[in-house]
Parts: sequence; C-alpha cells; structure tokens
Amino acid sequence: MLNTVILPDEESRSEENFALDFNVEEEILRLKKDLNAVILAHYYQEDDIQDIADFVGDSLDLSRKAAATKADVIVFSGVKFMAETAKILSPGKTVIFPDEKAGCSLEDSCPPDKFKAWRAQYPDHISLTYINSSAEVKALTDIVVTSSNAEYIVNQIPQDKGILFAPDKYLGGYLAKKTGRNMVLWPGTCIVHEQFSAKEITKLMVQHPEAAFIAHPECPPDVLDMAEHVGSTSSLLKYVTDSPIKKFIVGTEQGIFHQMRKANPDKEFIAAPGADGNCNCANCPFMKLNTLEKIYLCMVNKAPRIEMDANLMDRARHSLEKMLAMSPPPAK
Ligand code: 13P
Ligand code: SF4
Repeated sequence: MLNTVILPDEESRSEENFALDFNVEEEILRLKKDLNAVILAHYYQEDDIQDIADFVGDSLDLSRKAAATKADVIVFSGVKFMAETAKILSPGKTVIFPDEKAGCSLEDSCPPDKFKAWRAQYPDHISLTYINSSAEVKALTDIVVTSSNAEYIVNQIPQDKGILFAPDKYLGGYLAKKTGRNMVLWPGTCIVHEQFSAKEITKLMVQHPEAAFIAHPECPPDVLDMAEHVGSTSSLLKYVTDSPIKKFIVGTEQGIFHQMRKANPDKEFIAAPGADGNCNCANCPFMKLNTLEKIYLCMVNKAPRIEMDANLMDRARHSLEKMLAMSPPPAK
C-alpha cells in the first residue's frame, strides 16, 4: 500500500497526512531530479504514466533513447525485456522498472535452451529475433529486430540466405509474405494480438463503414489481411495522424489511444474486438501491471533493478547493435 511507504526525506509524516497530501506525480518529478533520472515509457502504458514520461515510444525508439541518454538512472515503464534492452545498451546506467512480473508471452514462448537447439538444426540460416525475447535469446541470435525495422532489415539479408525468425510466428509470417522470403518460424504468439477476431472486426466495419481498420503485425494473418495499414505502434500513430480519415478501428493494445487522441482530438478510435465480440482483449496484462505508484516506489527503492552478467550483456549487445546499425534513420 502506498501509504505504508516512508518518504526518504519526510520520515516523520503521519499516515493520514501522507494519504491526504501525497501527490505522486510531484514526488516522481522530485525524485527524477534527485536521481538525475529519465523516464521512458512504452505506448501501451496507462495515460498518466505516458503524461509524466520524458519520452514515450515504440520498442525501437525506446532502445535508441536508452542507448543515447545522459541520465544516470533510466526508469523504464514497459515490460521487462525492454528494461533489459535498455541496460544492455547502456550498461553504465542504473535501470529500474516498476514491476518484476511485467513479462511478455512472446518471451515466455522461447526458452533459450530450446531456441539454441532449434538454431542448431539450421546452421546455414541467419537468425533474426524479435526484440520481445530474453537477453539469453538475444545473445544466441545474429540480429534483433522490432516491428518497425524488421522489413527493412530482412531486405538487407542476401537473397540466398535462409532466415530463422523467432519468436512471433505472426510477425514472421507477415514479413515472409511482404518480402517474399522463405522463413522458418518459431511458433510463439502475443496473447493480446492473437485474440483479435477477423469475424468480429468485419461486423464492426459494417457498423462503421467510414472507419479504416489498422493493425499491429503481431495479429493473426486473417486479421492483417483486412487492414488498410499494418505497422508498429509508432507507425500506427503516424498513419492515423497523417490520414484524412476521421474514424479508425485499431488492432493493437489500446494504450496507444492516448497519443492518438492527443494528436488527433477530432478523430475517433475504436478498439478491435476479440472472438466474443466484447472482450477487453486490447489490454496487455503485463504492460498494465505498471502504475504511477510503482514507478514512485521503484525510484525510492532503486528496485526492481536490472542486473545482468557482463558477458551475457556483451553477447546480447552484439545483436542489438547490429539492429541499430541496420535500422532506417529515426523519423524527424
Ligand atoms: P512496438 O515496438 O510496435 O511498440 O511493439 C511492442 C509490443 O510489445 C507490441 O506488442
Ligand atoms: Fe508482449 Fe503482447 Fe504484451 Fe506486447 S502486447 S508486451 S507482445 S504480451
């Protein structure tokens, strides 16, 4: 409970006072100064977290920010593989994050020992791995990709080279179709995006004929086939902002609606439905573990904190740095 926490410089404060006048946003900003910290948040975070963050972005933008920051402490509000990536790219920084349980179903689907055995079956293939994976798996792969640079990177792989893609079979399948490349796919899925239903989206499109449907490439192929635009979170945000269309059905986690609405107050955004037509499936249960209070607490406690073996970080950095070198230039 928040009001059992002892404030570092106000230890004598009573619980009643604490509960009455404690302003978590102000305290986070105060701690940010004290720690020389930067707060990085993914688009799937709650609105209040996005509003207090120094930077909100997709996995690639956040990796770039983490690699370039001059802050001493990175507070990473997203999921754990993102905080780990920040630490690997900025090993000299302290990286803290709000909730240790904020994992990812894609990472969970791909244990390093099984990944290693799978790779060994295809010694002549190049291994591309989605950033939604553990540091151990990144250390075993050739190049990491995100949803915003994957196609660009695949197109740089020599045509005669076979490609292994892990762990998202839907992103991998989408890339194979887009690029015409043969890819061996790891059978992982995102528990959020796999739930979107083509049948229910069709019903919604009939009810809203003026709306455009857009989707993240982690969605199943029948859903992606219906989309007018497929892209990473930042690409979806850019698409709705640049488009003259006023209504969108959005096939991704609805945390992104906050920036979509901020940039487009005159447009309407509808969450894509799941198979029962009415599920709350556009919410990532891992991303939504994070709260402002947990951000405050991780800054007070400097924990949870990412600590990793230096050798593992060096090996994982190799595939991440390849990704950064092969990515398109950042958008202006
Ligand atoms: P983006 O890199 O597109 O933000 O995607 C991250 C993610 O976890 C999607 O589920
Ligand atoms: Fe992982 Fe899916 Fe959540 Fe993204 S939305 S963090 S892929 S479980």
